Formats: sequence, structure tokens, C-alpha cells
Amino acid sequence: MKIAIPKEIVVNEHRVAIIPETVAKLVRAGMNVSVESKAGENADFPDKFYADAGAKIVSDVQTLLSDSDVVFKVQKPVLNQSINKHEIDMIKQGAVLIGLLQPGSDPETIQMLTKNKITGFSLNFIPRISRAQSMDILSSQSSISGYKSVLLAANELKRFFPMMMTAAGTIIPAKVFILGAGVAGLQAIATARRLGAIVQAFDVRPAVKQEVESLGAKFVGLAIEEAASATGYAKEVSQEHQVREKELIAQYIKDADIAISTALIPGKRAPILITREMVETMKPGSVIVDIAAEQGGNCELTQADKSVLHNNVTILGPVNIPSMMSCHASQMYSRNIFSFFNLIVQEGRLNMDFNDPIIKQTCITHQGEILKK
Ligand code: NAI
Repeated sequence: MKIAIPKEIVVNEHRVAIIPETVAKLVRAGMNVSVESKAGENADFPDKFYADAGAKIVSDVQTLLSDSDVVFKVQKPVLNQSINKHEIDMIKQGAVLIGLLQPGSDPETIQMLTKNKITGFSLNFIPRISRAQSMDILSSQSSISGYKSVLLAANELKRFFPMMMTAAGTIIPAKVFILGAGVAGLQAIATARRLGAIVQAFDVRPAVKQEVESLGAKFVGLAIEEAASATGYAKEVSQEHQVREKELIAQYIKDADIAISTALIPGKRAPILITREMVETMKPGSVIVDIAAEQGGNCELTQADKSVLHNNVTILGPVNIPSMMSCHASQMYSRNIFSFFNLIVQEGRLNMDFNDPIIKQTCITHQGEILKK
């Protein structure tokens, strides 16, 4: 089986779908792996590492894609402007594409995949079940976002995180307030704690309290039974709960040096948890890192990919945080993808069992049909 790993061409995407470590595993399993020249360069994996792992380095992306049975990607396929050809039109008919697609918000890409009879898998739909944990791209990439968000905040803050007892007197530790304690939020708590901050965390799902406390932070959220769904994700909370939620957040955010917001509702705009008025109660020099910026943001003042200064409070709205940590983000992504790939391959051949819930939930297009909208 021929496998292709093209270079990501979306602006500021520095990850690569497969790293040399995984290439070696694929080659050992009898696969024929080709990598576009410089595909891993921005993630600190030069061509030589891929060649040493057994990959063939190909400089012409058209040759690479048109000659492969399986294509691994990070970002959805787009128009390659340097050759004026869409990536989908270069992939051969009947091939399998494994990456991240957005059928809800981007039906055009899905139409193109169907037209070209490409089987498209999107790993952001991996179900949250134990068997699929090693394939869970959303979790691996969210934990990177949680970690990095704290470092972005620390870099912006003109204060220490830990308590400092010095000859110049004692410095009190920073107070960090985490809104949304899912995968990213929990990693942000752990990172802020490691740096010595006092951490408080807020969420609406009842299960979160114990997880937050096990990391040494204080849970100050509302445990709303109906906010928890069977999938593990949160559901939108009622108007009444939204009012109570805002009152509680207002109470804690005014004392925070840093607020990290991560709250998401699948398929919906991120909930607004931090209002303009709340920002105006914060201390001068405080920092908000809103990692929900791409989904509209948890803070009313967030602007995606921008730094906003309001009343001496900095609000960062970083986008594609995993790409800022492209080396480890690619490593985790690559391991997730390899784990998934093993599910659809048997004895060196593709063998897709569409009754398997993992395959069923992630397969978006197959044999010219749209399987998931
Ligand atoms: P997410 O990224 O969709 O949301 C982040 C957090 O925001 C969640 O904790 C959610 O409860 C919270 N949130 C949503 N609305 C809120 C509001 N109005 N106020 C405050 N907080 C709000 O979720 P994520 O982090 O991807 O996963 C959520 C949960 O899924 C995990 O904590 C875990 O329980 C479960 N999970 C299970 C896995 C498995 O079994 N394989 C793997 C990963 C996660």
C-alpha cells in the first residue's frame, strides 16, 4: 500500500501529520511511505529523518498525491496556490484521506471528495470511548493548547507566578482562574500549578469537581446535572443558569491575575462567560487568554488571532495553538493517526468495517456518497 504525507500548505500550519517515528512503524508493517520534501521541516523533522526511517522523499506534490492509496493530513485539503491545483484534485480516485474535515461548516470540501470518490475520514469525530482514546486527536491537541495558554499568559504578565521569598521581601503567588475544565482546562490547571500559581477553576459539568481538586486547584463552578451529555461534552445551559454562572464568574475574575477560558459546546458558538463589565473589574495588567477564540470566544472582547488591550487588561485570542508547539503536537497527532490507521488495515490491506462505531462516526465520504453531514 502506498502512503503519502504532503506538506501542510494552510498559512501558519506548522504541524505534519506523520513524524519519522511513525514512518518507521508503517514501513515495518510493509507500507510504502512517501513524504513531500520539507513536510516536517517546521516541526523540527528534516527530510533526512524521514529518509532514515525508510520514507521516499518526493519533491513534486502532484506525483506524490496521484500515486498514493492513503493520504495523511492535518488541515483539510485546500487549493495549492503555487501550482493552482486543489489538493483533492491531485489525490487519485478511490484513495483514502485521513485528517480533519468540517462537514457542518465546509460542505464544499465534502462535495469535492464525493465527486472524486475519495474516502474521507475526519478524526475530530472520534467517539469518546476507552477503545478510541489513543486515536483522540481533539484530546491530544487540546492538552497542548491548555499547556501553551498558560505560557502565553505568563509571558504577557508583568508578575511572577510562584510565591517568592527574597531579600527584597515576599512576592505573593499569582491567581489563575480557569473557565472550562475539560481536557485543555485541566492541562492549564496542571501547568499553572507547576509554575506555582494559586488556581481556581469553573465548569458546569458535575464530574469536573473531582478532577479539578485532584490537580490541587479549587473548584468554584456550578454542578449542573443537565449540562452533562452522554458523550462527555457539555450542553448549553438554561438562561437561568447562565445568569447564576455569570454572577459566580464575576465574583472570582476580579481577583485573578490571569483568566484562561476554554469553554466549548460542540457544534455551537462558544458561550460568553466573561463580559466587558467583568473585564473592567479586573486589576490593571491582568491577562485573559481565550482559547475558545476560534469558536467565537468566551470573552465578549476577544478578537481571534489578536491581542486586545481594554482598561489595561490584555485579552489574547490565539488561534491554532497546537501549531505553535508543532514538534510535540505532530508527534501526538501522528501517534493518534497511526492508532486509527491500524483499525482500518489488516494484513497490509485496507479493511474498513463500517459497523465499527469508530469507523462509522469518522467516515465522512465513501464511494461517492456523503456518510456524515
Ligand atoms: P470541550 O473542549 O468541548 O469543552 C471544554 C470545557 O468547557 C468542558 O469541560 C465543558 O464542560 C466546559 N463548558 C462548556 N460550557 C460551559 C459553560 N457555559 N461554563 C463553563 N464551562 C463550560 O470539551 P473537552 O475538553 O474536549 O472534553 C469534555 C469531556 O469529555 C472531558 O472532560 C471528559 O470528561 C470527556 N472526554 C472523554 C474522553 C474519552 O473517554 N475517551 C476523551 C476526552 C474527553
